[in-house]
Amino acid sequence: MTDAVKHGLVPWSEDGGIRTVGVLTNGGDAPGMNAAIRAVVRAGLHEGYRMLGCRRGFHGLWRGDMVELDGRSVSGRLQYGGTFLMTARSQSFNTPEGVEKAFEMCRVFCMDALVVIGGDGSLRGALDLSRMGLPVIGIPSTIDNDVGCSEYAIGYDTALNTAMSAIDKLRDTATSHERCSCIEVMGRRTGYIALNVGVSCGAEVILIPEVEMDFDRDVARRLLECHNSGKSHYIVVVAEGAGDTVEISNRIETQTGIESRVTILGHLQRGGSPSTRDRMMASWMGTLAIKSLVSGDYGHVVSYRQGRVITIEIEEALQMTKTISPEEIETAYQIAL
Ligand code: F6P
Repeated sequence: MTDAVKHGLVPWSEDGGIRTVGVLTNGGDAPGMNAAIRAVVRAGLHEGYRMLGCRRGFHGLWRGDMVELDGRSVSGRLQYGGTFLMTARSQSFNTPEGVEKAFEMCRVFCMDALVVIGGDGSLRGALDLSRMGLPVIGIPSTIDNDVGCSEYAIGYDTALNTAMSAIDKLRDTATSHERCSCIEVMGRRTGYIALNVGVSCGAEVILIPEVEMDFDRDVARRLLECHNSGKSHYIVVVAEGAGDTVEISNRIETQTGIESRVTILGHLQRGGSPSTRDRMMASWMGTLAIKSLVSGDYGHVVSYRQGRVITIEIEEALQMTKTISPEEIETAYQIAL
């Protein structure tokens, strides 16, 4: 029997068992979300559940924007970026009244459990519903890869590859003109994309919010050392949370005399066909979400840790943190010069 039924909150399944499972994608979209929905739906149908999609994330749940999903409704989707269930950054759900209304909507649609696919904020929304007694399972998916409980979030690998091929192209033109190319990548308040795409592209400078920058030492002197050692291009990768990229580029021109151009990759990084890694992670994580419901492990987040896909109790999962160390960025610097 689910906690919700035990507490008399959810009268819809007479025996308290799970019959209908909802799935939604929330927050910023990420390549691989479609593959995750597909895995959840197919695994759920395999277990005999009725599957419902909530369109437009928590906002759709809040306003009852539901669609029945069968095996065919997820056919031919996994190779596409975006999310066919659509997504939103919900204001309506982000209040105690909003959460209560969304919970009530689950009752209206006889939805006994919910799988939430999204980043940190979305998993916090899942926690709110879990605290009300709804059986929920979270799946981490954000290009930022900043979900503390999981070493991997669906979408990260594709975003890295998208940024990498863009930077490879920018390097061609930077080399021809002996210019500096300042490239801003996404990541909100974290530098996972910047660090790892920077390493993958041999960036001369990588700026991330986790490591405080000393412009003279970390940027100006560094680029002049590169120039003096005979380099003909200068790739500076800036995480969006690390500073103003245009200002950094202007300072580079003024202080080093090296001509510089700015490219902001922006939402380009959120689109595109998911990589093999993202399709695989989405498939394993989506399947484990349903297995957790079958085994009664409600209120968990699926996580990737030490090479394994596991589940962690949601309260504990959302207290977990991870970060980038100064040593990692130091190592990236050592191999760039
Ligand atoms: O969380 C994913 C992300 O793409 C961040 O990297 C970025 O800061 C933010 O979303 C952009 O959000 P929006 O699409 O709402 O502008």
